[in-house]
Amino acid sequence: MVALTVNGTRHEPTSPDDTPLLSVLRGPLGLSGPRFGCGLGMCGACLVLVDGRPMTSCDTPLWSVDGTAVTTVEGLATDGAPHPLQQAFLDEQAAQCGYCTSGILIRAAALLDENPNPDEDAVVAALDENLCRCGVQRRVVRAVLRAAAGGQR
Ligand code: FES
Ligand code: FES
Repeated sequence: MVALTVNGTRHEPTSPDDTPLLSVLRGPLGLSGPRFGCGLGMCGACLVLVDGRPMTSCDTPLWSVDGTAVTTVEGLATDGAPHPLQQAFLDEQAAQCGYCTSGILIRAAALLDENPNPDEDAVVAALDENLCRCGVQRRVVRAVLRAAAGGQR
């Protein structure tokens, strides 16, 4: 049986081992933050952190995350307080429909963990594979830079 930690809580999902992680998160675990977009590992809507690294959950079978710690966008908040990135996205109104937003937040969180002071080029490069149809990319970049600057810009 697969056992994993999701947002700090241990789970032993009963889904078949080849079930996509995204289906387990959105189904039995009730976490609707990660989204189903392409289903092919191409758009980034379903990103989660697996042991701190961004991973597309739509094409990741459950068996492959046995023993890992998974963080979804819901797990970025601390004691109900938004993550600095989440606050910055609100401040910059960096979501339109919001479908892509959780994946972008996950990728941006991984970026800031690795590089707390990215410049604009580094933010653009990091988010290059996260697709957004709504055209909020400029606001997204501003929001990530705002979070990196401690909420000031
Ligand atoms: S839904 Fe997973 S990458 Fe598009
Ligand atoms: S805000 Fe709509 S897809 Fe990005």
